Amino acid sequence: MGRLEGKVTIVTGAGSGIGLAVCKRYAAEGAVVVGYDLQESDQWSEVEKAAPGTLFRTGDVRDGQAQNALAAETLEQFGRIDTLVTAAGVAGGGPVHLIPEEEWDRVQDVNLKGTYLSAKAVLPTMIEQRSGSIITVASVEGLEAQDGGSTYNASKAGVVLLTKNMAIDYGRVGIRVNAICPGFIDTPLFQSVMAGEAMAEYKEKVRLQHKLARFGKPEEIAGAAFFLASDDSSFVTGQAIAVDGGFTAGKWFGVTTMMGLE
Ligand SMILES: NC(=O)c1ccc[n+]([C@@H]2O[C@H](COP(=O)([O-])OP(=O)(O)OC[C@H]3O[C@@H](n4cnc5c(N)ncnc54)[C@H](O)[C@@H]3O)[C@@H](O)[C@H]2O)c1
Repeated sequence: MGRLEGKVTIVTGAGSGIGLAVCKRYAAEGAVVVGYDLQESDQWSEVEKAAPGTLFRTGDVRDGQAQNALAAETLEQFGRIDTLVTAAGVAGGGPVHLIPEEEWDRVQDVNLKGTYLSAKAVLPTMIEQRSGSIITVASVEGLEAQDGGSTYNASKAGVVLLTKNMAIDYGRVGIRVNAICPGFIDTPLFQSVMAGEAMAEYKEKVRLQHKLARFGKPEEIAGAAFFLASDDSSFVTGQAIAVDGGFTAGKWFGVTTMMGLE
């Protein structure tokens, strides 16, 4: 028996990278997964085969009505909603004076407003049940600023505080809310940001800021999301948990390399 047996879970961003890895891990642990994404994935059938009863729907996290309909369909089919994982997100950045206003709005709307709309859609059910776990996907860039990251970083810092606020507001009705703050994880989003020769030097510097000196894998974020959905985390709420290979532990300048720690 899986350790998430029967837990009904909505996962946004289910079509790729971290969200897809969460769907696979949750399904393997016995959860009932309802995945949601702008676009279909050719891997959805694989998850459905491993866990019959899994549902996937296409839609936009910026569409509040569509998210309410998804929550209503989930409730109708499965009778409850135990877990929400908000992994839908987009990259974006640049220094402020170079960011067009529409680009600023796009990143905020998907990353921050989308998270708010996903939570808003499931909260009435979780309040009624007096239980639930909401797991947002923020970023290390929501914890620390980084050059060239303004709009993305602002959206992810917003997700971190929204998460903590929801933990405060809903703790007394039995709902836990936590953020996962991944380091740089090898996904299609990461590959699009790091593409091209011009980014090679930056990519290497970023890799070395991870104290494990490597990028993460989507499955490593799914592992943290598994913990936060499981009863093992029953006393964990209001946290922004960095799953980042030590990225936010402090600065690395390489002095210990001279002492043989390579
Ligand atoms: N990959 C990293 O290095 C990294 C690091 C920190 C945080 N994150 C965050 O993790 C989350 C997942 O990122 P990923 O790396 O797996 O990216 P990804 O691009 O592989 O997957 C993101 C998914 O979100 C979906 N999506 C985008 N906009 C949407 C919308 N409006 N409505 C519905 N779905 C939408 C995309 O279609 C895609 O399938 C994002 O929030 C991202 O900001 C990623």
